[in-house]
Amino acid sequence: MKYRGKPGTRVICLLLGSGIAGAFAWQLAQPPADKYIAAMDNPHRVLKVDEVIAKLELKPGMIVADIGSGSGSFSIPMAKAIAPNGILYAVDIDQAMLDHVAARAKEAGVSNVRTVLGEFDDPKLPVKNADVAFFHRVLHMIEHRQAYLNATARYLAPDGRVVVIEKNREDSPDWMWLNQPDVDSWMAAIGFYPAQHFGVFDDRYFVAYQRPYGKSVLLKKGPAKKD
Ligand SMILES: C[S@@+](CC[C@H](N)C(=O)[O-])C[C@H]1O[C@@H](n2cnc3c(N)ncnc32)[C@H](O)[C@@H]1O
Repeated sequence: MKYRGKPGTRVICLLLGSGIAGAFAWQLAQPPADKYIAAMDNPHRVLKVDEVIAKLELKPGMIVADIGSGSGSFSIPMAKAIAPNGILYAVDIDQAMLDHVAARAKEAGVSNVRTVLGEFDDPKLPVKNADVAFFHRVLHMIEHRQAYLNATARYLAPDGRVVVIEKNREDSPDWMWLNQPDVDSWMAAIGFYPAQHFGVFDDRYFVAYQRPYGKSVLLKKGPAKKD
């Protein structure tokens, strides 16, 4: 993956939380999993996991994909929120990371986590009816965003949501963050619109994208009225 930051800069700082600059990484050259996991589990990271889960109204029985699950900071609590009959798919490209999530789930007595080794351009989910595909600080790591989002949409239920939490570049120019209008346009290209904006974070946007379906203002359910 090409570095998208300042020209000429060879080394990339991976910002994992407020004020934390740690490991070096990009799509095709990740840091070793143990270093990455230690950085992700840094207690100073601002994650607001409970608030995120509450805003998304995750409920028992839902199918949720935590894409780029990393050390599982969101996977485990999300799995608990959708238990007992919901399934949390933790997707990553690094098997060591997935092994860590599986071990963490086992230790926590959480039995509804399934790990999925994704491909760079495809999360490879084993279902076609996911309710939520969740990306927290991941989309910027993916080289072919449009292709990845397009692939992801194929695993969603018709009213499924793609949830993106990222920073705008102008708010944090030292890293290859993604501006929300760019994400909006990639989502629009595959038929999704920004249905909900959540103001949980001071430094990140948190948007749920959906297709026009069901309760959407853009498309009403039911047959058209006859004159
Ligand atoms: C910055 S970490 C974020 C982890 C987690 N979402 C969190 O916020 O704690 C990015 C994660 O995305 C994963 N990743 C990078 N490219 C990916 C891809 N194409 N598909 C799935 N996961 C990817 C990395 O292995 C890493 O675990």
